[in-house]
Amino acid sequence: MVTNISVKPLPGPKNLFGLKNIRNISTEGFLKFLSENWQEYGDIFQVQVGPKKLVMVIHPDYVRHVTMTNSDNYLKLESYDGVRKYVVGDGIITSEGELWRRQRRLMAPYYTPRGVQEFSEIMLRDTLAMTERWEQLAADHAQVEMFDEMALVTASIILKAIFSTESNDEILEIKEYVETMIAYASSSMNNPFTLPDWLPTESNKAFWKAHDRVHSYINEVLDNRFAMDESNYPNDLLSKLITSQDAETGERMSRDLLRDEALTNFFAGYETSARTMSHIWYALALNPDVKAKLHQELDRELGNEAPTLDDLKRLPYTLRVVKEALRLYPPAPMYAKDVVDDDVIDGYHIEKGSVMMLLPYFTHRHPDFWPDPLRFDPDRHAPEADKERHAQAYHPFGSGQRICLGNQFSLLETHIMLAILAKRFDPRFVPGYEAAFKFGGLLVIENGLPMILEHR
Ligand code: HEM
Repeated sequence: MVTNISVKPLPGPKNLFGLKNIRNISTEGFLKFLSENWQEYGDIFQVQVGPKKLVMVIHPDYVRHVTMTNSDNYLKLESYDGVRKYVVGDGIITSEGELWRRQRRLMAPYYTPRGVQEFSEIMLRDTLAMTERWEQLAADHAQVEMFDEMALVTASIILKAIFSTESNDEILEIKEYVETMIAYASSSMNNPFTLPDWLPTESNKAFWKAHDRVHSYINEVLDNRFAMDESNYPNDLLSKLITSQDAETGERMSRDLLRDEALTNFFAGYETSARTMSHIWYALALNPDVKAKLHQELDRELGNEAPTLDDLKRLPYTLRVVKEALRLYPPAPMYAKDVVDDDVIDGYHIEKGSVMMLLPYFTHRHPDFWPDPLRFDPDRHAPEADKERHAQAYHPFGSGQRICLGNQFSLLETHIMLAILAKRFDPRFVPGYEAAFKFGGLLVIENGLPMILEHR
């Protein structure tokens, strides 16, 4: 409880029940609304949207407070009910308390920098398969929708990593059904006036069809796995999850939890990586000097053969390009935490029941931490520069104990994809193209990213 009378109320636009904010957000878009309010109110401000008080958190000190110093007060509670109910169930991305702690302990070893190397073969193989398809498209100077291209590869990589799925038809089918589930969960969370999910509306029917198909797919894979001798298990994440045991209790995960964790990994891990790759192509097309430096590194260090894990160590600039795209265009531009109890941040009163919106998109453009913040400059991520910067000035994967479990997976995946694809291809904008970014749970180029494929 906050009793100190010197505590200040948070700044922010004040209006009756937040209706004016809702109107402004829907006419101008959330990105413009937030940018203007950041200019006006500074690095922490409160916005009433309908019944909810949202606290926008931008300064790295405040990010540290919420995700580390006082993280027990900022949990994933009712803000995540939609995604919990409709997509991930008890999966680690929204679980809390003892369940979350146990699952994180069990799963962490598979996602360390060394742990994720086990998946590098899949990443290499799938990217090389894409280059074969692109060879022909580039010979025809064909136009592609870059996000769709990238999503095809990242969905295939993660489904193979989790389930050893080899069938392209199955990969496409599951990807599309999970997309339907995610879209349904996010529209149910954004719209307080949705009809009950059991009514036979078109969108409810489409959701339940997708839900049932995805669940029955995973159940089938689980049935097959349980029918096998463990010594014959394929080396994928599902096998690791099935056989992992809690060190203290010796317990294994229940079948339902295995399904939820498998689905969580797919949910969390494919669109984010696909958006990262799309943003990289966008940034390279806008910044020819960076592109030239990237090409120089790739041409100097790689022959005509596919790169190996060892080769990647000699491609530091390539990885910096990935990191810089994650800075300027973070695929998860905001993430939320529910406030358990009243608190004070830098003298401001944080009210119990409000929702903290952590905003990497804006932290990453803060001029006190990023000189000339709008310039795309991969060398900001040289090791010395990283060391000197405030650790929370960069949080594309979140921060603290709930930092993205898959961050090393996606850095390895995008490093490999960029190295292979940029060595051979140079996608260009279609004439007159201008991107329109839309800010939500994910940062999306709303008008798509059509590009012309060219050989280098
Ligand atoms: C560039 C790609 C990615 C980005 C930007 C990203 C971003 C994030 C963010 C912002 C969070 C939430 C942090 C919080 O709430 O405090 C998160 C959590 C998580 N991510 Fe990622 N992610 C990416 C890729 C992946 C991949 C590839 C996987 C799986 C292979 C994955 C699995 C997870 C999981 C399981 C969590 C929940 C961790 C926990 O709560 O303990 N992510 N991610």
